[in-house]
Parts: sequence; structure tokens; C-alpha cells
Amino acid sequence: MEILGIDIGGSGIKGSPVNVETGELAAERYRVDTPAPSTPEAVAEAVLELVQHFNWQGPIGCTFPAIVKNGVAYSAANVDKSWIGTDAHRLLQHHTNCPVLVINDADAAGIAEMQFGAGRHFNGLVIMLTFGTGIGSALFINGQLVPNTELGHVQIRGKDAEHRASARIREEKELSWKRWARLVNEYLQHIEFLFSPDLFIIGGGVSKRYDKFFPFLDVKAEIVPAQFRNEAGIVGAAYAARDLI
Ligand code: BGC
Repeated sequence: MEILGIDIGGSGIKGSPVNVETGELAAERYRVDTPAPSTPEAVAEAVLELVQHFNWQGPIGCTFPAIVKNGVAYSAANVDKSWIGTDAHRLLQHHTNCPVLVINDADAAGIAEMQFGAGRHFNGLVIMLTFGTGIGSALFINGQLVPNTELGHVQIRGKDAEHRASARIREEKELSWKRWARLVNEYLQHIEFLFSPDLFIIGGGVSKRYDKFFPFLDVKAEIVPAQFRNEAGIVGAAYAARDLI
């Protein structure tokens, strides 16, 4: 069974049909730039472009980088503020004429890892953190997602964690891996103090360079890189949309 997975990010909107039995992409990924400003209408047009590219008529699972409850966006840290209060579910369904499920991007990435990747068959408390433009989080207890945890906005020395330790900060401040790892470690230790997870899964683009910063991390929990790289959101959103069928 195939479902179109779409991942809306701060810089790109990516998608592909996904085989939701295996978690594999069923076609080559297609990407368009996130429009600037990233208003709901402009993003919906970009999503439609992907749908047309795949000539898709069927269920769609779509991520969004914000709090999403029942398809409505309730925050907008790294997208246009006009998203706050927007019914993303209705908007995208209307634009694409397909049944759509919308979920938080990190929750989708976590679902992909728990189902097919680094957290497969793992019980206990798992926290997936995605390091990109912001920091996203997905928390699982015995495989069950607790959605919209937003742990990237936990305060570290008076500042949002994602303003201290996201991958964007590493690039903007041109930090060495070691110096950035110290900030990530400070953050992980705080999250560990609050939740005592059994496993951390570290995702986002930086996870493919995990050998550069994992050696500097010191937490009690097991810590592993995500297995899906750029595709986690696509796969997890498609998987989560199974119920639309
Ligand atoms: C948002 C989260 C999102 C994360 C990663 C944060 O700024 O508040 O909802 O999951 O960025 O995109």
C-alpha cells in the first residue's frame, strides 16, 4: 500500500510515495523550495506542485514544523506567523483534493524511526530529537507517541534550547563540532534530568555526521543516530496517514 508522504520544512518541501508496509520510498524524492514568505496559501501551492508531480490521487501524510492538533497549527517558530490558528488539514485537503493527515515534523520522524529504524522494537521511554533549523522532539512510551512535546523550546540558561544548540546555530556561529557538541550535551543532560529516557535517537541532517559529535556526548541513556536521514518525516507522515484508507 502506498501513501504520499510530504515533509514541510523551513527551507524545502519534499515528498515521495511511500510503501507503508516496508517504510521504503516508492519513487525518487521530489523537492521544491519553501516559498518566502511561507504563508499558508503559498505553502499549499507548493504542496500541490508535489502532488501534481507524482500525479497523485490518494491519501497524503504531511508534516508541519509546529504544534499540530487535529490538523490545526498552534505555533510557528520557523514559518510565517500567519500559520498560527490555521486549519492546515482543511487547507491542504482543499488544495489537493485528497484526504490529508497533518502532524508535527519531529513526531513524524520519530514514528518512522520507531516503526522501521533506530527505535524498532524498543520499549521504555524513547526521545527522538531532530537538530535542524530548530530542534524538534518526539517522545514515546512503550512505542506510543506523546505528541507535540516541543522540547526544542525548553529553556537553557534563559534561552530556547533551539537558539543555543540547533544545527543552524552551529552553522551561523561557525562552531567546531566539539564546541557545538558541548551545547548539545548541556541540552541532552537537561532533557535527561527531566525525563530519564532509556534511549535518545538523534536525527536531522547532522545525524549523518554523528561520528563528529557523539564522542563528546555524556548521557546515561543509550544514544543512537537516526537511521532515516532526510526521509524520516516523509516516511513517518505517510505511515501515520494509514488510517485515512
Ligand atoms: C517547532 C517544532 C518543530 C521543530 C523542528 C521547532 O521550532 O516549534 O514544532 O518540530 O522546530 O522543525
